[in-house]
Amino acid sequence: MDKFVIKGGRRLTGEVNISGAKNAVVAILPAVLLSDEPCIIENVPSISDVKISLTILREMGAEVTPIGKDTYRIDPTTVNNYCVPYETARKMRASYYFLGALLGKFNKARVSMPGGCSLGDRPIDQHLKAFKVLGANHSLSQGMIDLTAEKLVGGQIFFDVVTVGATMNAMLAGVKAEGLTIIENAAKEPHIVDLANFLNSMGANIMGAGTDYIKIRGVKHLHGTTYSVIPDQIEAGTFMIAAAATGGDVLVKNVIPKHLESITKKLEKIGVNIESFDDSIRVWVDGPLVKANIKTSPHPGFPTDMQPQIATLLTLASGTSIITEGIWDQRFRYVEELRRMGADITVNGTVALIEGKGNLMGAPVKACDLRAGAALIIAGLSASGITEIEDIYHIERGYDGMEVKLRQMGADIRKVSLPDENDDKESEQKTVSRNDINDDAEAV
Ligand code: EPZ
Repeated sequence: MDKFVIKGGRRLTGEVNISGAKNAVVAILPAVLLSDEPCIIENVPSISDVKISLTILREMGAEVTPIGKDTYRIDPTTVNNYCVPYETARKMRASYYFLGALLGKFNKARVSMPGGCSLGDRPIDQHLKAFKVLGANHSLSQGMIDLTAEKLVGGQIFFDVVTVGATMNAMLAGVKAEGLTIIENAAKEPHIVDLANFLNSMGANIMGAGTDYIKIRGVKHLHGTTYSVIPDQIEAGTFMIAAAATGGDVLVKNVIPKHLESITKKLEKIGVNIESFDDSIRVWVDGPLVKANIKTSPHPGFPTDMQPQIATLLTLASGTSIITEGIWDQRFRYVEELRRMGADITVNGTVALIEGKGNLMGAPVKACDLRAGAALIIAGLSASGITEIEDIYHIERGYDGMEVKLRQMGADIRKVSLPDENDDKESEQKTVSRNDINDDAEAV
């Protein structure tokens, strides 16, 4: 097991390059299965969710060939089975996108029930509703979801709640369904549009992605394509907040500023300076941070995946801020860890009250999920003293080389290996003392 060790108090400066979007690529990789020819996928982030997705594709018989740092050639024509291996699939919640892709390819699919998560209840009733409209029946046995359809026929899907995953799955299953499929109350996130653009580049006929009304005319065949994944809106937002929290001045490169508008607007309200260019955004602080009220909501609202990060920034602002979590019923578990660092936050259900104290103190903390871990890194960067973050595997699920990118901007952060709990050999862990960190970090 590894941990991050951070010596706080250093301003982030310089530039950072944003990688491909996790929440787009975890849907695009399964979507390759729908093609009758090989596809080339570019700008693929090096994160563990991608590694799991590529392993699933290989285990199903696809030929996956890395052709460069972030590019893969995937030939799905050798895939002849509709069942995703249980052990691999259950490692990643987004493995449920293989349901839609395999149903679209074979008229049947078998994938493990998606894992739970620290965000609270994560049902898939809307996914199953969409598949049913298209003609598929589902059953559950031994922790696996089975979908079968005589054939897929287009229909009218109305989602009772705005759901990214079910919107993605409806498109994956609908692109080859006979006739017209309508998706109403669809999610509008940038990654929804990215999947639709990818499918259309293979010859699909999807209109309206990015609005709440999507029309799909089914096609018989999808051909190969070369496609570049959009930049990660949440990774970009995370680094923007890290720059603000350290009083820094950073140019965040390879972004689509339009995708960041809701984040930019809130940061400006808090007193952060923002300048947008064609594909980059400059973030700097030259005055006090002030309180703000945040309510997370589906795109184009403020993203729930930025909630822990902006809460951390608001602990450094003056005044009382209110955060209302509008998507998940348990997305404040990280607050306990921020309290160890001196944060004054009161949580009542889906509302958090933050008394800005202006500073945090380093402490040993644990990441409980991907964005909570990112928030603890931001807290450690801005805190006085040393912060050690355990369970960083959560962070590495969705951030490509985060500590390397932060070090390049001047942060004092190192990844330290911990002896495996049941490791009986003498631990070679290098005891990183307070003095060592500085020198080692500079040396790395
Ligand atoms: C996606 O999760 C993202 N994950 C999440 O990001 C993100 O928080 C979420 O969308 C909202 O933007 C990926 O894209 C891999 P939903 P997803 O379906 O698709 C309810 C991160 O940090 N719902 O949009 O699972 C659900 O309970 C992760 O990158 C149903 O009721 O989210 C929730 O309240 C964390 N029935 C709301 O809808 C369903 O069938 C939104 O969920 C499906 C969802």
